[in-house]
Amino acid sequence: MESVLGIETSCDETAAAVVRADLVTLSSVVESSIDQHRDFGGVVPELAGRAHVATIRPVVERALDEAGLDPRRPGITGIAVTAGPGLVGSLLVGLSFAKALAVAWDLPYVGVNHLEGHLFAPRLESPGLEWPLMTLLVSGGHSLIVYQRGPGEHEVLGETVDDAAGEAYDKVARWLGLGYPGGPVIDRLAREGSAASLALPRGMLGAGLDLSFSGLKTAVVRATEGRDDLALADVAASFQATLAEQLLRKLRAALGRHAARSVALAGGVAANSALREGVAELATELGLAAHLPALAMCTDNAAMIAAAGLHRLAHGGASPLSLPARPNWDLREVA
Ligand code: KG4
Ligand code: ZN
Repeated sequence: MESVLGIETSCDETAAAVVRADLVTLSSVVESSIDQHRDFGGVVPELAGRAHVATIRPVVERALDEAGLDPRRPGITGIAVTAGPGLVGSLLVGLSFAKALAVAWDLPYVGVNHLEGHLFAPRLESPGLEWPLMTLLVSGGHSLIVYQRGPGEHEVLGETVDDAAGEAYDKVARWLGLGYPGGPVIDRLAREGSAASLALPRGMLGAGLDLSFSGLKTAVVRATEGRDDLALADVAASFQATLAEQLLRKLRAALGRHAARSVALAGGVAANSALREGVAELATELGLAAHLPALAMCTDNAAMIAAAGLHRLAHGGASPLSLPARPNWDLREVA
């Protein structure tokens, strides 16, 4: 059966995976350089690029080995690699490595859009997922609501006009002195606090489906400045509840306008407990199947890139060796 080696290096994760055409994941290896970035409060592009250079070969070899393949003659039928969006110096490491392997093994390869990769993640866990599918894709770099009638088709219904949802978590955490990345620690703290303790304005009140989080971040700063009396857990709970309410309200509006049978969460913020609970409740209320990814499937990995690549290789054909890295590649431009 056909199988594809996926390679992902768009941000701070160096990842490789082997996925079969029936979407069975044979291996998935992820190495993150996040520990090198923590002190800087965000991913430092130069450090991320250097880490990929050091890590890419062992990560790819491990993925082939764990899939039971010979790393020298793996017997795969294609290679898929993230070509964008992402940090250009990071993208180039994976892209060049994939091209070199494609030449050495005389295999077709395809440059995959990272966001399309995230959209394929639910199918790896739920191959029987019913279409149309509505996905809320929320990560540190992106926040979108995407409607899909079938695999590889996507209509972007809404997108953030300023910060991404994860970015808002990271910035609020930084303001509160909670370290980086902020999502997991705010999520944990929020469970011990009261969401009613801090009045934050409900944002994104327009009828459109675009998202915006910088106003909420500023509201948190304003409401907490000079307030030593506030408990961190209460601030975290109020911020988290407000952000989740905004996202769920837009997701509900999108589902009201476009008939879907399934709803999915994707991206790093899909690990968020309030969002997971909210999407599960919304799906039950609307009679839809909910797909809440396993935590390893929320964050960046190469299995989702391989899955998107399988689809692209089967339908659009291979990419030329001249393909550039595309740091700002818009999902709408993926045909
Ligand atoms: O998808 P991802 O690993 O990287 C990007 O491609 O951006 O997402 C990382 C983001 C970070 O902003 C992090 O704070 C956020 O996901 N995150 C969370 C949670 N876990 C990670 N945000 C909210 N709640 C969480 N439990
Ligand atoms: Zn991502």
